[in-house]
Amino acid sequence: MINSQLIGTGSCIPDFVLTNAMLEQMVDTSDEWIVQRTGVRERRIAKNTHTWELALGAAQEALADAGIPADELDLILVSTCTPDNNTPNTASILQDKLSARQIGALDINNACTGFISATDVADSYIKSGKAKTVLVVAAETLHRIIDYTDRSTCILFGDGAAAAVYRATDREGIGIQSTFIAADGAGADYLHMQALPIEDPFASDRPVDPKARFLKMQGAAVVRFTARAVPLAIDTALQRAGVAAEEIDWVVPHQANLRILDVIAKRYHLPREKVYVNMEYFGNTSSASVPICLDEMRKKGLLCEGQTIVCTGFGAGLTYGAFVLKL
Ligand code: UT7
Repeated sequence: MINSQLIGTGSCIPDFVLTNAMLEQMVDTSDEWIVQRTGVRERRIAKNTHTWELALGAAQEALADAGIPADELDLILVSTCTPDNNTPNTASILQDKLSARQIGALDINNACTGFISATDVADSYIKSGKAKTVLVVAAETLHRIIDYTDRSTCILFGDGAAAAVYRATDREGIGIQSTFIAADGAGADYLHMQALPIEDPFASDRPVDPKARFLKMQGAAVVRFTARAVPLAIDTALQRAGVAAEEIDWVVPHQANLRILDVIAKRYHLPREKVYVNMEYFGNTSSASVPICLDEMRKKGLLCEGQTIVCTGFGAGLTYGAFVLKL
């Protein structure tokens, strides 16, 4: 049996810090409201930076941590909902910047579930024998789609990138033990950002909506969806892995809202400290949030051989998923 072992992580976190105090100057909000309702105190903004630049920084760090050169990669997957271009994709740009071989390079646009979905694809390639070593990068420059006059979204989101390197192993009980991904497109309007407008190209007055490119969110509806979807994702991944909730050492959830993370801890009877949280400092970085956590945990020495980790993501689509990883 071939499994996908996590052999390296890396991240690229922008320097600029956007605090709640700064947001108080921009929209009708308060530090107290933001902290109580979301748990976020500050977030990072990648000013004048391409998504591929964040992806490259994270990828280089992950490869260095894995101790392998880019030419050992067999596949590059980039999760982003904030690419620099509709085409070419970010993964192809990364293949060139890393001087990797001419291997498959795909973008995955699955919003905040993107890292989970990309890991699912990486694991499938590795298990089928089509790839031995896969780089998964999640990179987001969300400030580009945020309306900084909309207090319901601008307080939540931040920028960042992180990466993971997975490699085939035949050691039993190591690596990705199960994955689960799903979508419920009926909730597409709850979190929405237009890519290209539908219009008559020959009309003399082609309408231009300056806010069309911004993310629109019905936050409370998304929270209601997570109450159903997140336990379903985690339960399914645990069941597929044959792992009991008591065996979990860490849950690493998408950093959407502290209240959602508290619900996860209660549902699985986990001490709150076992649900990893860093959203105080980074906010919601969409698909980058789970790997940013994993990388931070590794750097803090919190990840040890033998641990069982459950990662879960959820967001626009609506999409949701989870995987079980043994270190
Ligand atoms: O990452 C992808 C998945 N995304 C998520 O999981 C996000 C999930 N949603 C959320 O985190 C929350 O829904 C929000 C943090 C976005 C909003 O919190 P909420 O408790 O659901 O608030 P709400 O939307 O129900 O609004 C409650 C009140 C409203 O005022 P009224 O109508 O009761 O007078 C809002 O206008 O809070 C108001 N409000 C604010 N007040 C101060 C909304 N945003 C703010 C704000 N500051 N920033």
